[in-house]
Amino acid sequence: MSLYANCVRPLLFRLDAETAHHLTVQSCRVAGSIPGLPALSHSCLHSSAPELVSEFGGLRFSNPIGLAAGWDKSGHALRLLDSLGFGFAEIGSVSARPSPGNPKPRLFRMPQDRAIIVNYGLPNDGAEVVARRLAQYHTRHPLGVNIVKTNDGPNAPPCGPDEILADYERSVSLLHPYAGYLALNLSCPNAQGGKDFFALPGNISRLLARLEHLAIRCPVILKLVPTEDASALQRILNECDAFPFVRGFCFNLPAGKPDTLELSVPREMLAYQPGAIAGRPVTALINRCIARLYQLMDRRRYVIIGAGGVFTAEDAYLKLRCGASLVQLYTALIYEGPGVVKQINRGLVSLLKRDGFTHFSQAIGTAESCEDCLSEHSHLRP
Ligand SMILES: Cc1cc2nc3c(=O)[nH]c(=O)nc-3n(C[C@H](O)[C@H](O)[C@H](O)COP(=O)(O)O)c2cc1C
Repeated sequence: MSLYANCVRPLLFRLDAETAHHLTVQSCRVAGSIPGLPALSHSCLHSSAPELVSEFGGLRFSNPIGLAAGWDKSGHALRLLDSLGFGFAEIGSVSARPSPGNPKPRLFRMPQDRAIIVNYGLPNDGAEVVARRLAQYHTRHPLGVNIVKTNDGPNAPPCGPDEILADYERSVSLLHPYAGYLALNLSCPNAQGGKDFFALPGNISRLLARLEHLAIRCPVILKLVPTEDASALQRILNECDAFPFVRGFCFNLPAGKPDTLELSVPREMLAYQPGAIAGRPVTALINRCIARLYQLMDRRRYVIIGAGGVFTAEDAYLKLRCGASLVQLYTALIYEGPGVVKQINRGLVSLLKRDGFTHFSQAIGTAESCEDCLSEHSHLRP
C-alpha cells in the first residue's frame, strides 16, 4: 500500500469531501511555490517512454494520461500540477464571470463504488482573473483550459441564446492566448443554461461561428453530453465540419443517476441526492460513447480525450482501444493519490508489449466495435 493510501487518504477522508478538495488544491499551490519542490515532485512522479510520447495540434505529450477538468478550477496550483506525472492537465471550468457555484454541501464520496457525487455547479474565479494567473506561468506539459457558461445560480432569470454565446466568446477571447488547447464544456450536468442549449440542433455551429473571428491558434475540444446515439453524434460532427479549429471531443459525466451507470449502492439511497456521478460507475457508458464516436468521426482530423472511471493501466488501455488518443482521470486521484499516474503509464508500457505494439497509437481503436469494448468488461454490461 502506498503512503497516500496508508496515511494521506485516511486523513483527507475524515474531512468532508469539499474541504479535503480545497485543502489539497491549496497545499499544492503552496508546495508549488517552494523552490525545488516541483522539480523534485516531477523527478519522483513523472514517467515517460518512447512508446507513450505523442503529438497533437502542435502539442507534445510525454505520456497520454492527463488530469481532467474540475480539480484545479481556477488555475491556482499550476506549478505543482505540472509536476505530478501527468502528460497534460486541464484546468477549469472557467466562466466569463466569477461564480460561487451551487449551495453547499455539493461533493460526496461513494467509496463502495469508487465514485464521487459532484454538484459543484461550476464555482470559479472568472476568466479575467484566471487569464492573469495563466499569464504568469508557462507549464512544461500541455495545459488545457476548459470554458463554460457562467452559472448565475438557480434563481437567475433564464438566459437568451445571445447571452449564452457571448459568455463563451468572452472567456475564449480572454483565455485562448494562454491555452495549449481549449475545451468547450457544452454539457455541465449541474448547471442551467449550457447543456440544454447545445442539445438543440444548430446551436453548436452558432457558437463556433461566433468564435471564428477570434483566430484561435490552439486546438479546440468539445466536451459533450455522453451519448451512444449515432444520429446525435453525427449531427454534432456535421455542425463542426466548417470549423477547422475544432480538433476533438471529450464526454462529460451524465446528468443525474441514469440506469446506464453501474452502481452497487441502491438507487433509492440516491433519490434525493442531487449531482452527477464520477468514477467507476461511468466507465462502461463512456467507453461505449467513445467507441461509437470513433466509428463515425474523421480520424485524421479529430481526437477523443477519454475520461471516466480510469483507475488502472487496464482502464486507460481500454479507453485507447475504444478510440481515445488521450486519457484523463480525476476520481482516481482522490482514491489512489498522484502515484496512480506513474503506475498507469508503466502498466501501459507492459500492456503494449504484451500485445505486440511498439507505440500506443497502434492500440487506438483496436476494439473495433462497441461490443468488443464491452466484452473486456463484460461484468459492466448494462
Ligand atoms: C469534483 C469534480 C468536479 C468536476 N468539475 C468539472 C468541471 O468543472 N468541468 C468539467 O468539464 N468537468 C468537471 N468534472 C468532470 C471531470 O472532468 C471528468 O470528466 C469526470 O470526472 C470523469 O472522470 P473520472 O471518472 O476520472 O473522475 C468534475 C469531476 C469531479 C469529480
